[in-house]
Amino acid sequence: RVQVVVDAKKTPKSPEQIILFKQAIKSNEILGNLTDEQMNEMIAYMKRSFPPNGVYVKEGTKGDRLYILETGEVEVTKENKFIRTMKSGSVFGELALMYNCKRTATVTAKGATKVWMLERNIFQMVMMNTTRSIRAEI
Ligand code: CMP
Repeated sequence: RVQVVVDAKKTPKSPEQIILFKQAIKSNEILGNLTDEQMNEMIAYMKRSFPPNGVYVKEGTKGDRLYILETGEVEVTKENKFIRTMKSGSVFGELALMYNCKRTATVTAKGATKVWMLERNIFQMVMMNTTRSIRAEI
């Protein structure tokens, strides 16, 4: 079994956080098919995000992180037009990561938020390791 290793630290999460984050990942259209092992790994590596002026993601920029909203609300806008509000237990920023595109929208905090992020290289490591282990089992 080949393992891809990225130098990164795991940050402990409470059982409640793990339940919320898993539900967030499962309810995301693109990430919903991840295995339980992949989700657990991803969650373990997530760390807190503290964005300047509450802007987590800026439309049209390069994106290297995906996010999970634990508490509070964020607003999604496109060309300064309101798209939607996201609540606790939502994933955002997954599109640029999965499709290697620029950020498709701007995501801004509405008041106080608690948000967790995962870096692209760790996301890829988690995906690779599980893909390889599945191959090895066939
Ligand atoms: P990404 O393109 O990486 O960065 C902006 C994020 O906003 C995007 O990933 C999605 O997570 C989210 N997003 C973009 N467009 C929409 C939409 N129409 N509805 C809900 N969320 C969106």
